Amino acid sequence: MTRTCLAVILAAGDSTRMKSSMSKVLHPIAGLPMIGHVMRAIGDAGMENAALVLGRDAEAVAKAGETAGIEITTFLQVERRGTGHAVLTAREAISQGFDDVVVTYGDVPLVRPQTFLSARETLAEGADVVVIGFHTQNPFGYGRLLVEDGQLVAIREEKDATDEERKVTWCNSGLMAINGARALEWLEKIGNSNAKGEYYLTDLVEIARADGGRVVAIDAPEAELAGCNTRAELALLETSWQQRRRHEMMLSGVSMIAPETVFLAHDTELQPDVLIEPNVVFGPGVTVESGAVIHAFSHLEGAHVASGATVGPFARLRPGANLGEGSKVGNFCEVKKAEIGAGAKVNHLTYIGDAFIGAGTNIGAGTITCNYDGFNKSETRIGENAFIGSNSALVAPVTIGNGAYIASGSVITEDVPEDALAFGRARQEVKPDRAKAVRERAQALKASRKNSR
Ligand code: UD1
Ligand code: CA
Repeated sequence: MTRTCLAVILAAGDSTRMKSSMSKVLHPIAGLPMIGHVMRAIGDAGMENAALVLGRDAEAVAKAGETAGIEITTFLQVERRGTGHAVLTAREAISQGFDDVVVTYGDVPLVRPQTFLSARETLAEGADVVVIGFHTQNPFGYGRLLVEDGQLVAIREEKDATDEERKVTWCNSGLMAINGARALEWLEKIGNSNAKGEYYLTDLVEIARADGGRVVAIDAPEAELAGCNTRAELALLETSWQQRRRHEMMLSGVSMIAPETVFLAHDTELQPDVLIEPNVVFGPGVTVESGAVIHAFSHLEGAHVASGATVGPFARLRPGANLGEGSKVGNFCEVKKAEIGAGAKVNHLTYIGDAFIGAGTNIGAGTITCNYDGFNKSETRIGENAFIGSNSALVAPVTIGNGAYIASGSVITEDVPEDALAFGRARQEVKPDRAKAVRERAQALKASRKNSR
């Protein structure tokens, strides 16, 4: 689209019903603050300028709203005097003369870029005000779209509506697109003689019409326009977001056995032919390549899983875990900031942190990289095709060469060269018949204690 556009995002609300120490738009959905979701949709719709109207936590909200490719200007709305007043707070930005001005709220994280685009296309076709409406079974609390002869003639707020008007189920989402050339003169005509004594943005419908403007209402799905006032609504939004994203992922070729038990982050990347078993949680920053399998009950964050690798069941990949092709991290293993080479295996009950593990190396059950001395982190480097026996403790910093072999139960504190065999444990002693003697002594002691009671 060649038309210029300013997005005005209203986020000055008090968030009272969230009962939170921070603005509601900072609360995350899929690990990204709500304001971030809205800004991303704005960016994806090709809008390059945004005016953020802020109240509490202005600085933090502005920071959370930063999005590549969008020029943001912030405006502080000191007193909340209504949505019309809020938009006018951004007067300076609006007066720069954009072709389109699109108003949205900061707490509608499910809004899709396509909805903004549709509104702008309607402007491009000659409308002056485009209202985005939705149909609902529960219109209570929303502004109702009043239609005469097929034309939107007014939006009536719940508190100002007659009983007859309250029966209308076509509602105002709050999102609106306005002809940028007329926006300011119309916004400035908004008054506050209504039930709440507020400056209603919705009055623009009547004001524009009275001035010969063309007003059009378009529809979007109710679920996409849902806002957030309480923690319960926050959880519902999370559920909707997760459903939508899982569905998209499955359509793009990802298999999920029980999708409703898989939790994705806003930036999770899963390639086609990845299989996700039940009860898997993705924190931010995870990419998984084709052919990898994430087994049940695994938790991944900041990790990369290359093609053909397998994770879990019950594995935890923490930030910086980088699993090579065909590698394996099995049950009850934790990997943090570590490269696991192609085809390497970390199969059971192991902690690998601050480490490099070469291709084809096998890490035995219960191996621990001792990477922390209480003050500093140190690295463990293991070459290719090495074998670390079960229950070994690798005390970092330490380097183990290609093809080296570590005996089970070793505590390795010194470097082990290529192809060397290292024992780091006491030599086993066997005393014939000694067990019998020990047992008899214990039995005698038990009997004597019983008699003396
Ligand atoms: C508004 C609409 C209503 C619509 C509903 C959809 C008006 C008059 N009413 O009602 O038609 O159905 O949204 O949810 O526009 N805000 C500010 N500063 C203000 C006032 C509001 O930043 O002075 C922001 C709020 O943070 C919020 C948004 O604008 O994100 C909507 O404000 P709110 O008071 O919730 O409007 P509603 O009464 O719900
Ligand atoms: Ca509201």
